[in-house]
Amino acid sequence: MAVLHVNERQREGHINAEIYGHFSEHLGRCIYEGLYVGENSDIPNVNGMRKDVVDALKEMKIPMLRWPGGCFADEYHWKDGIGPKETRKKMINTHWGGVVEDNSFGTHEFFELCGQLGCKTYINGNVGSGTVQEMSEWVEYMTFDGVSPMADLRRKNGHEKPWKVDYFGVGNENWGCGGNMTPEYYANLYRRYQTYIRHYDHAAPIRKVCGGPNVADYFWTEGVLKTCFAPPQPEWAHGFMDELSLHYYVHPNGWDNKGSATQFDEEEWYRTMAKAIYMEELIERHGAIMDQYDPDKKIGLSVDEWGCWFDVEPGTNPGFLYQQNTMRDALVAGVTLNIFNKHCDRVKMACIAQMVNVLQSVILTEGPKMILTPTYHVFHMYKEHQDAELLHSYMEGNKTVGTKEDQVPFLSESVSVDADGVVHVTVSNLSVSEDSPVEVAFAELKPSSVKASILTGEMRAHNTFEEPDNVKETEFAGCEIAGDRIRFNLPACSVVSLRVS
Ligand code: AHR
Repeated sequence: MAVLHVNERQREGHINAEIYGHFSEHLGRCIYEGLYVGENSDIPNVNGMRKDVVDALKEMKIPMLRWPGGCFADEYHWKDGIGPKETRKKMINTHWGGVVEDNSFGTHEFFELCGQLGCKTYINGNVGSGTVQEMSEWVEYMTFDGVSPMADLRRKNGHEKPWKVDYFGVGNENWGCGGNMTPEYYANLYRRYQTYIRHYDHAAPIRKVCGGPNVADYFWTEGVLKTCFAPPQPEWAHGFMDELSLHYYVHPNGWDNKGSATQFDEEEWYRTMAKAIYMEELIERHGAIMDQYDPDKKIGLSVDEWGCWFDVEPGTNPGFLYQQNTMRDALVAGVTLNIFNKHCDRVKMACIAQMVNVLQSVILTEGPKMILTPTYHVFHMYKEHQDAELLHSYMEGNKTVGTKEDQVPFLSESVSVDADGVVHVTVSNLSVSEDSPVEVAFAELKPSSVKASILTGEMRAHNTFEEPDNVKETEFAGCEIAGDRIRFNLPACSVVSLRVS
């Protein structure tokens, strides 16, 4: 029996809703078809945005969306995507499949989408092939309310009032596709570019995201922070840098042999779990470097690209990164979100990659059809953690499970309390074959009611357009209140969420 101890008196920090954020890039069928079909499409839409997809994302409580990339961001020139659609420039999407990008989804469309979703906005600017002027004018176009060339252009294009930009990324992966820079070179550019991201709305300053490391590139983190915080120090305490990004994808067999999204064995399952858990070490080690420059933890580590990256589905365009999504993805999501919750003192924002039809998506589409993936259900089950307070919790008697090479903890958990005092517990069972009895023990709370839901299935179980409900969240009736404890038997390969009051 594993005992999950929860101390409701020990609140450990605020879980920013943006930890549950998403990423949408001009890549494959994410934007075009997945989100945007145009006003004249037969697929039901509101101002061009797919109604089925928007409704599902709202139901999942999407808090924030990052756009337009990714690697695409560093070759995106925002002025190509405004004004009458017939005159918008057509370009080659060199990173992703070499297809024609007609720019019919641009700045106005992005804000229309976020308005329909009711979510915060994260715009990623172009440092790799763009100028300071271009970036600074984009910010002016989007956020300035007065009379100016860019604000006037926005009005001419039909939008009177400025939009709200919550986050602005200064480049993307500038150690790689964003310009192959050294940390010092990028950091000097960061210092310069960020200067011109003006806070036109002083009541709602834009949070500036500095391009951070890939996986365990501690050299990058150290080099960027050292250069950014070297004298003459800008007014960093007032928003010079609000976030440092981290990108980490789980490839069970390495970059050159990613493996199938649906055809894998137990060995690969545990290797995937071990690689997902590695996220914790990355956060702690990059966080330790950040502590030297930012001991008060004002700067967030924003994991703005994470998720599983497998081989594309057979027969699909290799440049489109379209992959299926199984219970393995669900467990990776459950484990990762628990890690983010537990590190909410440093992780203030994150984006799973990517939202629709690309990599570890919550939604897949095929023409007019749409399915929800196992990962969607996990985000739905965890939604109550958004903007809740993390509670101190630990698992006593948590055994390990796995292969000789890859031993992982049986259970992963996190616990929060919301503004109404309701406690939310999420637990995953990483074993593919063994159930686990769990007891939740509170310090003070005498639970009188528990409502629970579960996502479970065989390790390769997934949804298809023919069988869209193979894997779905269902009510979990297996919880029993015994005095001040809650007991349940957690099936193998499952994620459970409990709502306790
Ligand atoms: O998400 C796919 C790609 O992965 C992004 O464009 C890039 O930032 C990362 O390498």
